[in-house]
Amino acid sequence: MAEQKATNVTWHDHRVSSDDRKKIKSQKSCVMWFTGLSASGKSTIANTVDHKLAELGKHTYLLDGDNIRQGLNKNLGFSAEDRAENIRRIGEVAKLFSDAGLVTLTAFISPYRADRDAVRELLADGDFIEILVDASLEICEARDPKGLYKKARAGEIKGFTGIDDPYEAPEKPELVLDSNSKSIDDLADEVVAFLDANGYLSA
Ligand code: ADX
Repeated sequence: MAEQKATNVTWHDHRVSSDDRKKIKSQKSCVMWFTGLSASGKSTIANTVDHKLAELGKHTYLLDGDNIRQGLNKNLGFSAEDRAENIRRIGEVAKLFSDAGLVTLTAFISPYRADRDAVRELLADGDFIEILVDASLEICEARDPKGLYKKARAGEIKGFTGIDDPYEAPEKPELVLDSNSKSIDDLADEVVAFLDANGYLSA
């Protein structure tokens, strides 16, 4: 939990509510939290879901680890403390985006269960959809699109998730995507079908 350092601050309720914003957009909002190993397919699947939702006329936004770490979170590394702060900030940003009425997607390894659970706690019941992008370490390592597993195995990167740093899979995710063998498009369709079946796509 981040310490409340600012004192003498008062919460202001705004005249335009979150429900007003969603009504204007004729949609519901939520946070789809994709978690999994590096190279499991999180970003690519989230990107495809984002595109499919945009085609359905939904207003969406995708927050992606590699991108956010070059801006908002450029001052954070990969220690457990920095990863926790990375996820805390993204949880707060995702909450704001969802509050603004956007269907929000995030793609972060987010290896620690406690960090993800803290984001779940931030959001209203049903607004946090935890999606495990499940691919074995062997498969992720064979894909190695950025050559990072190779570097980690050679000791050139320390504390790489799955190699010499932990990954704690969710115990009760809303959705598990089998990214070992299925195509990106099929997995993205599974996510859209889940949203549809659970009423997230109706206004
Ligand atoms: S998280 O653990 O804090 O959630 P995040 O998703 O933001 O990680 O960033 C992961 C990306 O950073 C990886 O896809 C990879 O490109 C890069 N990266 C660099 N160093 C590491 C590392 N030590 N462990 C994991 N990913 C790393």
